[in-house]
Amino acid sequence: MSRENFGSRFGAIMALAGSAVGLGNIWKFPYEAGSNGGGAFMLVYLFFVFVIGIPVMLSEFVIGRRGQRNPFGSFKTLAPGTRWFWFGGLSIFAAAIILSYYGTVAGWTLEYVAYAIGDTFHGRSSEDIGQLFSDFVSNSYKPLLWQVGFMVLCGIIIMSGVKNGIERCVKTMMPALFVLILLLDIRACTLDGAAEGLKFLFVPDFSKLTFNSVLNALGQSFFSLSLGMGALMTYASYISRNENLTGISVRVVVADTFVSILAGMAILPAVFAFGVDPSAGPNLVYITLPQVFDAMPLGYVWGIVFFVLLTFAALTSAISLLEVCVAYLTEELKFKRLSATALSTGVIAALGVLCTLSFGPMRDFTIFGRTFFDAFDALSSNIVLPVGGIFICLFVGWKMKTMSVYSELSSGGRYPMGMFRIFMFIVKYIAPAAILLILLGAIGIVK
Ligand code: PHE
Repeated sequence: MSRENFGSRFGAIMALAGSAVGLGNIWKFPYEAGSNGGGAFMLVYLFFVFVIGIPVMLSEFVIGRRGQRNPFGSFKTLAPGTRWFWFGGLSIFAAAIILSYYGTVAGWTLEYVAYAIGDTFHGRSSEDIGQLFSDFVSNSYKPLLWQVGFMVLCGIIIMSGVKNGIERCVKTMMPALFVLILLLDIRACTLDGAAEGLKFLFVPDFSKLTFNSVLNALGQSFFSLSLGMGALMTYASYISRNENLTGISVRVVVADTFVSILAGMAILPAVFAFGVDPSAGPNLVYITLPQVFDAMPLGYVWGIVFFVLLTFAALTSAISLLEVCVAYLTEELKFKRLSATALSTGVIAALGVLCTLSFGPMRDFTIFGRTFFDAFDALSSNIVLPVGGIFICLFVGWKMKTMSVYSELSSGGRYPMGMFRIFMFIVKYIAPAAILLILLGAIGIVK
């Protein structure tokens, strides 16, 4: 059976950027920066993105495009007779865990689109808006409907295939997202008191940086770039053999980082202008922004724009997670695309119910002292993705033949690879060692 590919270079870049740019940038980055000391967090984050993120992303591209399969199958093809394919199992596990709690937040976003359209924020005090959020997320069925609805939407896109589903959707949503976020930035940065927020984001105060914030910055860089679990590997297997992987990865990393910074610049100034605590955590965008929209001219329109943007961002990332599971089921277990999508969507939506209910009826149900939602979040970003990153680096750095890596990265000698040695050095030594050190530090083994 011939495999489907992305139809164009633009489509491939939009799909990869669509996977990377998501709730991680717009919902998570501002509150992570907010709770981990702002500017100092941002600097550490940027270091991880450019020094570790790009090489790990390229490694995923190499494995995916050379293997021409889902993560499980690619490892089997590239390292036959070994147990490397277990990594594929980790990918599918990670995709299911991430997507299940991702769907919860994406579901909130859909409800907020409805609130914005219904002008629900208008004339409410900040306590009222906070109450609106907590009443909604703790409701026993409403957030579930939205979460399941969101998963069905993802399923419909994925069912239509790589070109007609994924590529078509990202080619319209991603450009729209860039325009929308720029508009929001202009609005937020011209608010009275915005300067305070920009200072918080850009002027580092290293006294606020702890070991844990370094781990969070690492986890955030992997999460935001969609690294360490095979999502980009799967997409890379649909990139044509003629494309330059290095050029694509730099574009995707820059776009992703740019959107995170733009999101920080849209949200933190507003947070300061309205006297909200920047370390409010996961509910930051749902509680602060509605107040901001209500207090600005044409706020009704801005509110709709923002939550639609967040929905687009979430959708284009969620489909990349679902595709990992669907590619595995169709290629390894010979499912039809339709049944593979139905099965994956169903299982993940069911897992997601646990996360969604973590804010309501199941709030007291904890594993390792955390609710399902928090446990899934911490487990995936701070453990599974970094560990996955180590394996990916070790595979490309030590297991694959250097010639094959070179040939894949240069597309068979078509593109110059000036930095190849530096790349190999980072992938062999620096990235695995740095990730390991931070992980050990986080569990308290290294101080
Ligand atoms: N990168 C996505 C975001 O920032 C989340 C994601 C993680 C998607 C891992 C795919 C794989 O929201």
